[in-house]
Amino acid sequence: MRERNAAILEKAKLYENEFIKSISKDEKPSFHLCAPIGWINDPNGFSTFNDEYHLFYQYYPYDTIWGPMHWGHSKTKDFIKWEQLPVALAPDEDYDMEGCFSGSAIEDDGKHIIMYTGVLDKTNEEGKRILRQTQCIAIGDGINYEKLDCNPVITNEMLPEGSSLEDFRDPKIWKDGNEFYTVVASRSKDGSGQILMYKSRDLRNWEYVTIVDKSENKIGRMWECPDFFKLDENYILVISPQEVKADKNGFHNGNNTAYIIGKYDKNNNNFTREKYSVIDYGLDFYAPQTFEAKDGRRIMVGWMHSWENRIVPHDFKWCGMMTIPRELTIKDGFLIQNPIREIENYYKNTVEYNDLSIEKEISLEGINGRAIDITLDIDASKSEEFQIKVAKNEEYETLISYNPRKSIVTFDRSYSGKYGDTLHRRDISVKENDGKIKLRLIIDKYSVEIFINDGEHVMTSTFYTPLNATDITFSSQGLTLANIKKHDIIV
Ligand code: FRU
Repeated sequence: MRERNAAILEKAKLYENEFIKSISKDEKPSFHLCAPIGWINDPNGFSTFNDEYHLFYQYYPYDTIWGPMHWGHSKTKDFIKWEQLPVALAPDEDYDMEGCFSGSAIEDDGKHIIMYTGVLDKTNEEGKRILRQTQCIAIGDGINYEKLDCNPVITNEMLPEGSSLEDFRDPKIWKDGNEFYTVVASRSKDGSGQILMYKSRDLRNWEYVTIVDKSENKIGRMWECPDFFKLDENYILVISPQEVKADKNGFHNGNNTAYIIGKYDKNNNNFTREKYSVIDYGLDFYAPQTFEAKDGRRIMVGWMHSWENRIVPHDFKWCGMMTIPRELTIKDGFLIQNPIREIENYYKNTVEYNDLSIEKEISLEGINGRAIDITLDIDASKSEEFQIKVAKNEEYETLISYNPRKSIVTFDRSYSGKYGDTLHRRDISVKENDGKIKLRLIIDKYSVEIFINDGEHVMTSTFYTPLNATDITFSSQGLTLANIKKHDIIV
């Protein structure tokens, strides 16, 4: 084995330190975590350590496109204000030279344990390309992380027969009693996704437990980034399926996210699926990851970007944001998501309008901006369509509309300022409720997360409209009654 190449990590740290200074704070979102410099994708290692919350991410500091994966690192006390820490992992060992792919973290016995996928890509003596994904451990103190000398700890020999050796990644670790468990994404014999479970007492020696669930080519093909946890009496398996076919207003073509809800019999390691559904219906949401905070909240964060679309302006030196962390609950067998409540600590300049009658396009004094939390309680029963335009000026606008006749909410960024933006509109079916709906929009410079009816549905999308477009207007075809409340978010 080749010696670890420590210079690769050092180089990334130095680069980060040097070049982050060249990006002004004003260019970046106010309260969403984003790439410090270069590219980020999946959230990784969302966990508590020493009473602070840590979030790592797939990271390539040197360019605004994907490259050999490092793990970037940030921490927060309240999920809104983030502090950046030095790069935690670099692809510097034989078994991860092609990248330290996604994974997770937990705190155990005063140590911060990371589990990630090492990607090996080499050409053997016969000139044949060997691509392998295996699972590895690194242990740290919240800043520096050491990879175990016995890595990789879960190898290809530990896969069920016929599974792909190349698609085996994204371990999500947890501890139950004295045992560590992990779920890992894998591609089965039939070419579609399966989620495998392993367990270990010491993090070094792992044994295969079971297949938690599999796609059988029904929910997309390969499933990435699994997460598995208990919420109330239910177990939730989160997956990010690739190559999904569009399905009315549910899945869209390409990469999606889904949760499978069911029961888990721990003694027999048997998960029984009850139903599955989409997690987020927007254009930019993928690879979410959760953890349980000390106060018992199950909190999820997702990558606020998509593999399908590259709409980030050419002059940006950073690419990729995370969603606002979301509190998860279950209602009537469905997953409910709401923005982390700590956002309320940053409310300023609250403006409220009650009993508004809206028909022609209006703007409201004090309601504008690009870093806001705005809630609308709407009765559109006498309307054909209600529209909100945000990030607007004479040239640009981003449209959110509600059709009460069809119970459809639409997000449309056709006029947000990016040509080349081919996938720019989505419709989602919401509950019929006599034309009444509640919409909460979390807007942060380049993104809007639309929480519908207190988190029953969420639509997350980005738009890279110039920051001087700050107007917001409301209009209705026919009469809409509305209560509107807005807070600026000042961090
Ligand atoms: C999901 C994903 C993961 C992988 C990572 C690589 O977005 O493809 O499966 O670990 O990105 O960056």
